[in-house]
Order: sequence, then C-alpha cells, then structure tokens
Amino acid sequence: MIPLAFNLFYAGENSLGANIIEKLNLESAQFEIRQFPDGESYVRVDSEVANRKVILIANLHQPDHKFLCLAYLCETLKELGAAHITLISPYLPYMRQDIRFKPGEAVTSRIFARYLSGLVDKLITIDPHLHRYNSLDEIYSIPTTVLSANRLIADWIKQNVNAPLIIGPDSESAQWAAETAELVGCPHLVLEKTRHGDRDVEIAMPDISHLKDHSPVLVDDIISTGRTMIQTAERLKIMGLKAPTCIGVHAVFSESDYQKLKISYITQIVTSNAIPHSTNQVELCALIPEI
Ligand code: R5P
Repeated sequence: MIPLAFNLFYAGENSLGANIIEKLNLESAQFEIRQFPDGESYVRVDSEVANRKVILIANLHQPDHKFLCLAYLCETLKELGAAHITLISPYLPYMRQDIRFKPGEAVTSRIFARYLSGLVDKLITIDPHLHRYNSLDEIYSIPTTVLSANRLIADWIKQNVNAPLIIGPDSESAQWAAETAELVGCPHLVLEKTRHGDRDVEIAMPDISHLKDHSPVLVDDIISTGRTMIQTAERLKIMGLKAPTCIGVHAVFSESDYQKLKISYITQIVTSNAIPHSTNQVELCALIPEI
C-alpha cells in the first residue's frame, strides 16, 4: 500500500509539500487542523490510517504553535493505529541554540529533539544547522536522514552567476561554502564572524581586493535577521568588490529584516523553498528519496 502523506503548513499547489507528494506518488491524507475561537487547536484525521505508513511533510518555520498541532496529530495517528510515522521537515528549527551560552538558558535544540523523537519514528531534513553537534544522532534518538542542497545551489550559481567567488561568512558556513565551490568549480573563502547580539555581528575579512573581477556569492544555511549578510556585504563594498548575491538555504527572516537586507549592498537574495518566501529559487523536491 502506498504511504499516506499529510502536507502540513505548506500552502499552495506548487509548494514543496505538494511537490513531494506528487513526485513520490503518495496518497494525500484528508485531515483538518484549525483554531477554535479561543485559539486552542483542533485536529481531526479523516483518512483510514490503521496499519499504514504515514509521511508528514511539515514546514516548521516559526514552530511554536505548529509543534503543538504536530504533536496532537502524531498522537492521534498512533491512537488510530498508524504503523510508522516519518517526518520530513525540510527546515529543522531550534538547531542554533546548541549550547548554554549564558547560565540558566534552555538548550532548546536538545529539548526539541527529545520531544520530536517521542512523536515520530524517523526524521528527514535538509541542511540542519550542525555547528557544535557533528550529527543529529547526538540529540535525536530516532533514525535521521540529513540531505544537502549544495548540489542544487551549485547548479543555480552555474546558471546565473559569471565568475563566482563563493564566500562563507563564518566558520559554520565552511561546510556549505567549500562543497558548493567545489561543485561549481570556483574559488571560495570562509570569513570569521563574531556575534555580539541577535542583531549585532562583526565580520573580519582578509584583503581580497585582487578578486575584484569576481562576482561574490554569499552562501549560508540560514538568513534570519540578515545582519550576517549585510555586514559581509559592507566589508566587500569597502574593499571595492562587486555587490554580492546572497544565498540562504532557509529563509527564516521576518518581512522587516528581509526589507533591510534588500536595500543593503547586495544584488539579489536567493533561497530554497524549504520555507516558502518570494526569494525561493531553488526547488528542493529532487532531494527527497523514495520512502
Ligand atoms: C548561524 O551561525 C547561521 O549559520 C547563520 O549565519 C545565522 O543564523 C544568520 O543569522 P542572521 O541572519 O541573524 O545574521
């Protein structure tokens, strides 16, 4: 029997959720998730799930409310006899709080992982923020599959940018910048970032004025406040380099932060469709394996 798929929080016919269901030839589940007038959540499963393999494809950007709905859905699926639940969460939230930076802070990456591991049997995700963790296995107790958008991003760069110079704005981005540059066949460098606060970052850049003829492409996993991209672009401007293309796998930014980034020293912003946004240009559907 083909698996039953729930498209969660991806709206529209061309969303990543809809595209995955079509590509994998899954059966779309009938269900309802809505808010009662008082704001509490209502969840109802209207498809037969007993003994079936279930795939949840969920956009978990801004996860707090969505997570509770997901938890209600997973528990209901189990009560109704679902045989196995796989969660495809193209953007995996809460991964950046991976250490107690200040005494008493919640290490939410670990707590979130524990909650999710109790709800589903398997997790598939794309370019999670693995910085202080080497692998999701350090915090998830269920089997996990990590996919990378590097090849798709490299293809986009090859088709759209002349003489690219790939720049990773901080040490964490080395994993994306180095591999993407190798796939494109172009030079790359990784910068040093010091974060002083949520919206306060400092970028150190070596003298790269000899690379003026290249088109800089900033590559990072997440664009949130956009400060990392803005500060890096400012350094390029001071050095006399061209305005960069900014590529982020996950378009986490708010509308106001997006607008601030848009008017900074950049040519364009490109993201994948892991999180729906007007900047989406990299379709991730091809990465998802047969389940
Ligand atoms: C963290 O290190 C990530 O890789 C990104 O560099 C970071 O989340 C970007 O954040 P922002 O856009 O707020 O500077």
